[in-house]
Amino acid sequence: MSIRLGVPKEIEHGERRVALVPAIVERFAKLGVEVLVQNGAGAESHFPDSAYSAATLVADAESLYQQADIIVKIQPPTEAEIAMLKDGAVVVGMMTPHRYPERVKQLCERKLLSFAMELVPRISRAQSMDVLSSQAAVAGYKAALMAADSLDGFFPMLTTAAGTIRPAKVLVIGAGVAGLQAIATAKRLGAMVEGYDVRSATREQVESLGARFVDTGVSAEGAGGYARELTEEEQQQQQAVLEKHIIAADAVITTAAIPGRTSPRIISTAVVDQMKPGAVIIDLAAEGGGNCEVTRAGERVMHNDVMVYGPLNVPSELPIHASEMFAKNLLNFLTPMITDGEFAPDWEDEVIAGSTLTRDGEIKHAPTRAQIEGATS
Ligand code: NAI
Repeated sequence: MSIRLGVPKEIEHGERRVALVPAIVERFAKLGVEVLVQNGAGAESHFPDSAYSAATLVADAESLYQQADIIVKIQPPTEAEIAMLKDGAVVVGMMTPHRYPERVKQLCERKLLSFAMELVPRISRAQSMDVLSSQAAVAGYKAALMAADSLDGFFPMLTTAAGTIRPAKVLVIGAGVAGLQAIATAKRLGAMVEGYDVRSATREQVESLGARFVDTGVSAEGAGGYARELTEEEQQQQQAVLEKHIIAADAVITTAAIPGRTSPRIISTAVVDQMKPGAVIIDLAAEGGGNCEVTRAGERVMHNDVMVYGPLNVPSELPIHASEMFAKNLLNFLTPMITDGEFAPDWEDEVIAGSTLTRDGEIKHAPTRAQIEGATS
């Protein structure tokens, strides 16, 4: 009998994405997999039940979880959802293990196999499976739209009979996946865009999008192409140059992140105090503590006359394409594990092994194991 893949309706408040879109269900069906979709699972992302013609629709979560061999999800499964998984089931999705140690323990106690999509190694072969990148691209695009919408003025230059409007100055801090997409979007909207990142390798990427690179003279290439933490002296030098650009900007979009660390603090309250009246900051790093001292996760804060917004779960605000991309990532991740409709992962494969969170009663991800069991790897 072929394996059954289950797509539940996401239950997290405000989550509008769905793990598999109809086109990807068809691709799984071609692999010999039977896909079960809970009624209404795609409704919030505008994929009605009728579009899932290649799937079997299931009335409620209980019957879905009872039947599915593999559950695919966007948000980490809650304790109630883990309890519903049948013995021997597999769960795949974003797991955020550092935030939910209790859930990891529960997966372990039940000896369930779980894969955390955010742990997929960032190697070129796995780029097509990288949900962090696909969802960050969505967030970066939307952050630029949020900045444009929040600003009480135009982004583009306008030459009209009523005079000429100068373009808005937009500064994007952190030129990773989200930042580059924010730069490209702000540019398309006609703003004068500057980009900044501690990794000097990003200069070329920022400039190729038609933006100006802010050179602070500090470079912080770290392991694996990520940024490393800066020394105090480097931070001061970076700060002095950056502050001038922040103060001159109409809109600042911050996306600076270092894997596994709280977000670097780049904009102090004292700097926000000096910004132009009516300026806006969109802090995409809000979830990890924020790049701006004024940021409060999920809130719009008015600080003097500057609006600081730290939006959460931005990809869910563009659920159609965010779901399409997430589903494609899942297809690319799961396909090598499915042979003739059977689930047969190759544990020697570094992508499969690297993204395993729990297996046979063990926590396989060393940092999570260390956090939960106090063990060292
Ligand atoms: P990424 O790792 O691709 O990019 C982060 C960039 O920040 C890197 O290029 C890094 O060099 C840079 N950086 C690190 N320290 C810096 C510093 N002190 N100054 C300037 N640049 C610095 O990450 P990605 O995928 O672009 O995500 C960026 C942020 O957006 C993350 O905090 C992520 O959690 C957040 N995010 C938020 C979402 C939301 O819904 N709010 C959705 C997706 C991503």
